[in-house]
Amino acid sequence: MPTLLHARAETPMLPLLDKSKIPAHIAIIMDGNGRWAKSRRLPRLFGHRAGITSVREAVRACGDLGVKVLTLYAFSAENWARPGAEVHALMGLLQEYIVRELPELQKNHVRLRAIGRLEALPGGAQKKLADAAAATERNKGLMLVLALNYGGRQEIVDACNRALADGHAKIDEKILARYLYAPDCPAPDLLIRTSGEMRLSNFLLWEAAYTELYVTKTLWPDFRKPHLYEAIAEYQKRERRFGGL
Ligand code: FPP
Repeated sequence: MPTLLHARAETPMLPLLDKSKIPAHIAIIMDGNGRWAKSRRLPRLFGHRAGITSVREAVRACGDLGVKVLTLYAFSAENWARPGAEVHALMGLLQEYIVRELPELQKNHVRLRAIGRLEALPGGAQKKLADAAAATERNKGLMLVLALNYGGRQEIVDACNRALADGHAKIDEKILARYLYAPDCPAPDLLIRTSGEMRLSNFLLWEAAYTELYVTKTLWPDFRKPHLYEAIAEYQKRERRFGGL
């Protein structure tokens, strides 16, 4: 039997997906850019740059499928430990992406947001993010959430501190959830990680408590619509019990 990916030549296996079970929120750990570049004897930045094409494709595909939220792990709180030139290049790519992509995002009714300790990002990146968020605020299509200088532990700590500052003497799950970076977003239904690593890497630790995990060996710059469809098809086979029977 041909695998789902074999259908790629025709236009993917979109018809094989159950349209009534499309995940409302997909989160992606976009991993493998460095290895993609290394295998081509290219500097790592080329891998990150190639990863933008995959971002564009994932955003379009999710919008077309009716996914409500797509959260992309674009820069972790730990990524500052990378060489300065790589950090600088990533921040440049982010800004380039926002400026270049904004017209297309608008055309497709995508709302752009960012989560993380954004105040530590370079001023230019903060401004472009804020401007794009304001410009797309009323869009009713896919919500694209970029996790930037993001850490799941940091998010929980920040939520606790903000709840305390608001006068809560004791924190429970309901209260904490109200202080997350994007409290209005549903928890992710499906979390995809590319490049084969079996780790959460400090991503959405609170939100992913009952999220279905899907790991593919495909490196992020090679990730295309059929890979996304395959992840969703796998998700649709899962039985979600949320800890119950
Ligand atoms: C992990 O690959 C990837 C990142 C740390 C950055 C992801 C960034 C992009 C895809 C481009 C910018 C994104 C947006 C949304 C504008 P890695 O470098 O850790 O790969 P490796 O594990 O193979 O070394």
